[in-house]
Amino acid sequence: MTYVLGIDIGTSGTKTILFDEKGNNISSAFKGYPLYQPEIRWAEQNPEDWWNAVVVTINSAIQKSGVDIKDIKGLGLSGQMHGLVMIDKEGQVLRPSIIWCDQRTTKECDEITSLVGAERLIEITANPALTGFTASKIMWVKKHEPEIYEKTYKILLPKDYIRFMLTGEYCTEVSDASGMQLLDVPNRKWSDEVLEKLNIDKNLLGKVYESQEVTGVVNKVAAKLTGLKEGTKVVGGAGDQAAGAVGNGIVRPGVISSTIGTSGVVFAHTDKVTIDKKGRVHTFCHAVPGAWHIMGVTQAAGLSLKWFKDNLCGLENQNADSSGIDVYEELNREAESAKPGVDGLMYLPYLMGERTPHLDPYARGVFFGLNARHNKNDMLRSVMEGVGYSLLDCMDIINEMGITVDEVRASGGGGKSEVWRQIQADMFNSEVVTINSSEGPALGVAILALVGVGVYSSVVEACDTIIHKVTYQKPINENVELYSKYHEIYKRLYTALKPEFLYLKEKIKN
Ligand code: XUL
Repeated sequence: MTYVLGIDIGTSGTKTILFDEKGNNISSAFKGYPLYQPEIRWAEQNPEDWWNAVVVTINSAIQKSGVDIKDIKGLGLSGQMHGLVMIDKEGQVLRPSIIWCDQRTTKECDEITSLVGAERLIEITANPALTGFTASKIMWVKKHEPEIYEKTYKILLPKDYIRFMLTGEYCTEVSDASGMQLLDVPNRKWSDEVLEKLNIDKNLLGKVYESQEVTGVVNKVAAKLTGLKEGTKVVGGAGDQAAGAVGNGIVRPGVISSTIGTSGVVFAHTDKVTIDKKGRVHTFCHAVPGAWHIMGVTQAAGLSLKWFKDNLCGLENQNADSSGIDVYEELNREAESAKPGVDGLMYLPYLMGERTPHLDPYARGVFFGLNARHNKNDMLRSVMEGVGYSLLDCMDIINEMGITVDEVRASGGGGKSEVWRQIQADMFNSEVVTINSSEGPALGVAILALVGVGVYSSVVEACDTIIHKVTYQKPINENVELYSKYHEIYKRLYTALKPEFLYLKEKIKN
């Protein structure tokens, strides 16, 4: 039997899973790490924490499984996208990574747009300049920390830093590279034009592979630290969203996923490059050769619920600690006890600004419509519904772009919640299904590794063998109507508040 590892370097922690060739989860391990917010709208992490978590979880997954390491033929890396890792000639990290949800780079985005030209930028990188993407973070360091930029030998994405630590190779793959805003997305290679206009040396970037290709092998030092066999193959892998999509079988047109992790993503596969001219959804290379994908992103999806839990659910957290029951199960019960639509109580999930559809780093979270009869469970449900409305904003644009939606697959932590899935079925007015695995990104890159080491001949063949549907939820007509009315108010609330968000930032400096 062949085994492969899927490693997902997420924002809250790293999850490593050992899979067999049928995609069965044999053993897994997780290790968390902190997120630092030294200033409002900033978000940073230490790459050394990711590496430490990768080492600990690989050791632990191997030990728990009892599998002989010579049968672990390969591994795939998935990870939070867009994060900027800068290393010097000796491979030392030069500063904390500025990660995907950091919003400090509005000025740099304007600069990128004027240097490349708004239309040309979208033509080449398939997206407008965005604060979340890596290019603006590079420009920020260049301007504010020139001494760091001077010393930079290579620029890597989070999972590609881990690849470097495992193999000594500096490289990336098309799906994650698409989120750097330096890739020619239609042609799947670095854009000389963008690099020249931004004055970024191409030598700072690694080679770009297709996601299933073997990019290197585990070296001696890494083998000793991780417990893996020296020479184990490391495939390209994918950014967490493309990886999660492969792990959900989103590898042909018509099957869409809706993932609620820290961020929320509605994801569609396309056979040709399809771009929203307004840039409200991202177009990236998919982890499937010759395919692209479109995705709409809610910045704070699971993050909104976690914020609510951490700040307002002391009792639930205590009960969960003493009973050993997952606190989110209790939160699901509480949300279910509130009515759909919550009698006009609405939540705008803009705790980290918003991407789709507003592209507004200054947007802030809002509870609207509270009255004296509302209680905490209502607020909780409104948080889930607010995330749902934001995902619906993404789905509406995908529909507008002419993409067929035959089926929605729910995934991520939020996809495990029946009540949250029903909210999505009702809002999307579409059947929502789940599949036999909830390991999204880790399974996705394990599938890429299985293709890379030759167990399957293509990603589609591997997905068709490994993935099947297990639960089905149909929309409830009454709720479909209700949510469609509330969605109109939800959209108007942002329009009404947009100037106030800006006032808060510009005039009150908040
Ligand atoms: C995708 C994105 C998130 C992060 C963190 O564009 O920003 O998916 O990768 O999960």
